[in-house]
Amino acid sequence: MTGAAATGGSATGGYPLEVRPGLRLELQHPDLAPEYLALVEANLERLARWEPWATVPQSLSGIRTYLAWQAQAFVARTQLPFVIVLDGQAVGSCTARLDATEGTAEIGYWVGAEVEGTGVARASIGALVAHVFDRGGTARVQARTAVGNDRSRTLLDRLGFEFEGVQRSAQRMPGRRVDMAVYAKIAG
Ligand SMILES: CC(C)(COP(=O)(O)OP(=O)(O)OC[C@H]1O[C@@H](n2cnc3c(N)ncnc32)[C@H](O)[C@@H]1OP(=O)(O)O)[C@@H](O)C(=O)NCCC(=O)NCCS
Repeated sequence: MTGAAATGGSATGGYPLEVRPGLRLELQHPDLAPEYLALVEANLERLARWEPWATVPQSLSGIRTYLAWQAQAFVARTQLPFVIVLDGQAVGSCTARLDATEGTAEIGYWVGAEVEGTGVARASIGALVAHVFDRGGTARVQARTAVGNDRSRTLLDRLGFEFEGVQRSAQRMPGRRVDMAVYAKIAG
């Protein structure tokens, strides 16, 4: 992987995050747009089942704008936005949206089909959640996932999140509305 995010280190305060040998979380950056777009396009059909943003066509300019916005939000300390990189290849995304006022965070994530069912998601999202708590200031990490998204719900269970309830009709998808399951993990 090329780009400013790949250099991490001093300029970005200790990033990328090493999850385990060969697996790391790199800060999202607009330079990553071509590789990120290729990954998104290869997985768009399966992601469109669960991710509202994936139900519309993607473009290089749109992805670049998104990544630039994420990088700005990192500087503003409102997002921890990562690309999941396995053996030098982008294989997914995991992010935490930070609310400094409430001391809470909400995570989002997806991985490509080629690593689904291998534990890469669990290791990466586990590292993200640990990082959110370790950096201080966050008492609660929340995740919301469609009630019918069994893989995502199993992942959250395995990461020690607790199911708190269902928000009815909480997400808009084309032609339907979706009930969302709310999960949370509390510091300590
Ligand atoms: C949700 C999502 C991230 C879950 O990914 P995942 O790969 O199923 O999750 P995990 O990393 O926990 O992998 C679990 C599987 O890997 C297996 N595995 C293999 N080696 C493993 C290891 N070392 N550690 C953990 N699990 C391992 C587990 O046995 C499990 O197998 P199973 O699928 O037969 O139950 C993924 O399905 C996805 O991206 N979906 C599309 C987008 C989406 O739904 N996003 C969430 C919106 S809220």
